[in-house]
Amino acid sequence: MLSSEIRSLFIRYFKEREHTEVPSSPLVPQGDPSLICTNAGMVQFKSTFLGEEKRPYVRAVSSQKCMRAGGKHNDLDQVGKTARHHTFFEMLGNFSFGDYFKKEAISFAWELVTDVFHLQKERLWITVYQDDDEAESLWKRYMPKERILRLGAKDNFWQMGETGPCGPCSEIFIDQGETLHANCPGIGFCDCDRYIEIWNLVFMQYNKSLAGTTSLPNPSIDTGMGLERMTAVCQGVTSNYKTDLFAPIFGAIAQSIGRSIDETIDMMPARVVADHLRAMTFLI
Ligand code: ALA
Repeated sequence: MLSSEIRSLFIRYFKEREHTEVPSSPLVPQGDPSLICTNAGMVQFKSTFLGEEKRPYVRAVSSQKCMRAGGKHNDLDQVGKTARHHTFFEMLGNFSFGDYFKKEAISFAWELVTDVFHLQKERLWITVYQDDDEAESLWKRYMPKERILRLGAKDNFWQMGETGPCGPCSEIFIDQGETLHANCPGIGFCDCDRYIEIWNLVFMQYNKSLAGTTSLPNPSIDTGMGLERMTAVCQGVTSNYKTDLFAPIFGAIAQSIGRSIDETIDMMPARVVADHLRAMTFLI
């Protein structure tokens, strides 16, 4: 399945469920001095979550251009070392502004991942925030308890920056197999490429400001699926750089160095060059 088909399937699934498709906003946030670059799909909806702006819809879907090279969500130092981190990437997301909440967000995610993208249930793992009994019991409708893990705020409480909307979250992971790390201690304990997070569902409930944390006017939903990671999973490769999104750039790098890219010597620099070329192109 091509990356463009994955993007279309995601958007179509949510449009068929009464979500309005909203185009990606620019990488430089408009009128928000709290961020240098757009770091998530929810950024353009910040004031709607806060109840400051009314939109003509209560459900949205988007494919958002994102940059994570500074600030709270900074993946710059990971680029090249892993097969899954980027400075620039695309985030597929569905949003509810005071409309549906945890139950629907979880059932939409489960149906899309298993029935539309046909990922094997046996390879999936779920994490929830340590106190979130409700999310755990909702996931138990689909997953055995042993594959639903409770983690702390570092992993399962999402906030856009030092200030802004935030809330507990639940993440879907896929096990890419023992060949990547045979004795991996598992999700929350290892940062290898074996268990990769493919989708984060944030249960937006609070606003963090310099004065303290207050509740949002309505519980809301903000999700983010990395297009590059989902493409790797659907294309049966264990590196984002082996997908149709990066293969042509790797081809161009090989051409410019006059030989094929060596898996051991060249891999890290080639990944960095490919990532940064994409990032610079979209920033310009
Ligand atoms: N805003 C959430 C994230 O970026 C979905 O992971």
